[in-house]
Amino acid sequence: MKSQKKRMLSGMQPSGRLHLGNLLGALDNWIKYQRDYDAYFFVADWHALSTNYADTQKIREYVQEMLIDWLSAGIDPEKCTVFIQSRLPEHAVLHLLLSMITPVSWLERNPTYKEKIDELRERDLTTYGFLGYPVLQSADILIYKADVVPVGVDQLPHLELTRELARRFNNLYKTVFPEPQPLLTEVPKLLGTDGRKMSKSYNNAIYLSDPEPVVREKLRTMVTDPARIRRTDPGNPDVCPVFSYHKIFSEIGVVDRVNTECRTAAIGCIDCKKLVADRMVRRLDPIWKEREKWAKHPKKVESVVAEGTKQAGKVARQTMEEVREAIKL
Ligand code: TRP
Ligand code: SF4
Repeated sequence: MKSQKKRMLSGMQPSGRLHLGNLLGALDNWIKYQRDYDAYFFVADWHALSTNYADTQKIREYVQEMLIDWLSAGIDPEKCTVFIQSRLPEHAVLHLLLSMITPVSWLERNPTYKEKIDELRERDLTTYGFLGYPVLQSADILIYKADVVPVGVDQLPHLELTRELARRFNNLYKTVFPEPQPLLTEVPKLLGTDGRKMSKSYNNAIYLSDPEPVVREKLRTMVTDPARIRRTDPGNPDVCPVFSYHKIFSEIGVVDRVNTECRTAAIGCIDCKKLVADRMVRRLDPIWKEREKWAKHPKKVESVVAEGTKQAGKVARQTMEEVREAIKL
């Protein structure tokens, strides 16, 4: 059955605990897709090294946290293959071989590369590994002959490079790789509790692993319409990040009610936030319950990954045989 489905693959860098933005932006889609595709999801710990090579203390912990978040949110190892990049040296071998046919200019013109260097100015990213980041990503994708790759817009240049490398390889040697298609996940960016984009580095995120009182406290102190100072001031939900949460988490009736009652000061921010907190807690509660189970049994997490690595390894080694044959190594 599995083999008749199209193959999907995606990865995430282990950069700490996942927040609601990650859940709505990527993970929820993965969970949806895992039924319809032969899906492979992996923790890209080598990719994390490309920017965090000087600080590897926490990587292992982050990998574990990420796996627990995935499994708790609904990634189902019965339906898909879950693994860790660094356990499969085949990715590194293909990365090396692809690097031989990758013109440096293709990498230097990548807009994501330039943006990241600007963004992380304080780190020295003039490394070979960081420049080659998308070549490694191409290897991750091509080694499974993935048909589709769900990604955000920032990853599109990497997908384009992957396709170019597939073509170049196929032309130079022999057709081995299909050209993977991006599956764009069009999700509006979730705002953080300060009204900026939710991000770990802004310290404004609500984490899947935050306990209920923490979630409620984060909402209680969340930024609202800044012009609404007194309870009697009318507010404008269109500029209020709390309202953006209502639109995501609340039923339509509540959204409509807040939308009108805020404007006439019929509802106060405290009550308004309480309403959305209740909905959010209801959404997160099953994840928390699952989280407790997985966190208590690291061996179970390990067995999921061991099984996933075995399955992924079979596919990866098969592709590498074809690759070696094509290059005549
Ligand atoms: N670069 C991706 C990110 O930062 C992670 C990643 C690594 C990836 N290898 C991949 C995503 C292969 C999709 C396919 O989000
Ligand atoms: Fe925002 Fe709700 Fe307060 Fe209106 S009532 S300003 S939507 S928190």
